[in-house]
Amino acid sequence: MISRRAQSISPSETLQISAKAKELKREGKSVISLSAGEPDFKTPDHICEAAIKAIKEGFHGYTMNTGMPELREAIATKLKRDNELNYESTQIVCTNGAKQALGFSILALLDEGDEAVIPAPYWVSYPQMVKMAGAEPVTVRTNIDNHYKITPQQLDEAITDKTKLFILCSPSNPTGTRYTAEELKALGEVLAEHPGVSVISDEIYEYIVFEEEHRSILQEAPQLYDRTVLINGFSKGFAMTGWRLGYLAAPQPVADAVAKIQSQETSAPSAISQKAGIEAYNGELAEVESMVSAYNKRRDYVIERLKQLPGVTCFTPGGAFYVFPDISDYLGKESPAGQTVETSTDLCMYLLEEQGLAAVPGDAFGEPNGIRLSYAASMEELEEGLDRLEEGLKKLD
Ligand SMILES: Cc1ncc(COP(=O)(O)O)c(C=O)c1O
Repeated sequence: MISRRAQSISPSETLQISAKAKELKREGKSVISLSAGEPDFKTPDHICEAAIKAIKEGFHGYTMNTGMPELREAIATKLKRDNELNYESTQIVCTNGAKQALGFSILALLDEGDEAVIPAPYWVSYPQMVKMAGAEPVTVRTNIDNHYKITPQQLDEAITDKTKLFILCSPSNPTGTRYTAEELKALGEVLAEHPGVSVISDEIYEYIVFEEEHRSILQEAPQLYDRTVLINGFSKGFAMTGWRLGYLAAPQPVADAVAKIQSQETSAPSAISQKAGIEAYNGELAEVESMVSAYNKRRDYVIERLKQLPGVTCFTPGGAFYVFPDISDYLGKESPAGQTVETSTDLCMYLLEEQGLAAVPGDAFGEPNGIRLSYAASMEELEEGLDRLEEGLKKLD
């Protein structure tokens, strides 16, 4: 009964761990969850007010399929203001979260048999979305010594005659790594040699950066403008995950193709959320800045604690709200119950069941030696979570 397409993909493993943690919590167990991929803050009040006003004023109908012109203009203005990029509002399509912008872009760009190059560790959905389009994900394992960034040489070597797409995520989920301007430029030079390869640049964590400002690959490699799809949204920076609002900015033919797909699949994102999105981009960014400053303090604390754990290797990430320590020294060890922890999945299951700590195994992201810890959690939770991690690792023999 179930199609080959549906059978070929796996459910989101990050959601699975969160679900298991919730189940244990329901059973009354104490669980510290450092597994979630969403801010622990509330959406800023002025954004909520704009949505409430829209509801009260009866703004209850469908909007234009690609999103309200006012929102698309606000996005075009933001792309100019923050990223020095020029887009007509017609090149922008608003979607139900950045996830849908990614899924529809991939459907618009890939055919059966095409290949998409994806650096690992990758965000879980990229390879699955490529598979849903009937194409082949080609994952390239990167090195912690290079902060899990793909090198120009690795990219060049991964590109074949079948490669149609390269997917870049900076700042990254799951590692928090951020490519520098020079690194983006160098990747751009490789891509310039391969005119048949389109680029998806997922910049959903753009606003959550530390030390240095975010740079888009298009700022460093403007020659890629005609074949790059920029993905962004409101979920992370504005703590709006549940509002389901994202967008893409793309060359006109790609935007038109995505608009066609969206017109048949979902029509448009929620009208209320779109009103909120307009306020988010046109309003003050003060609350975003205060969230980022909280993430910064938490990141420093988590890194400090991880550095003290024997056999754990970690670098200080430049963005997002994740750390991705290498825990491979602990693989092959035995738990007090006599079970061997063979994989990062085993380790996370052990940490969850024995210590009440939820983290996501690197296996889910194509990097078996790591685990992902999210610091979108309160300082108290982080302290307790890291105590539990320390204790849990100590007990392995
Ligand atoms: C790298 C990355 N891209 C896209 C998304 C999807 O975001 P949205 O909530 O806007 O669909 C996420 C969410 O976890 C993400 O981590």
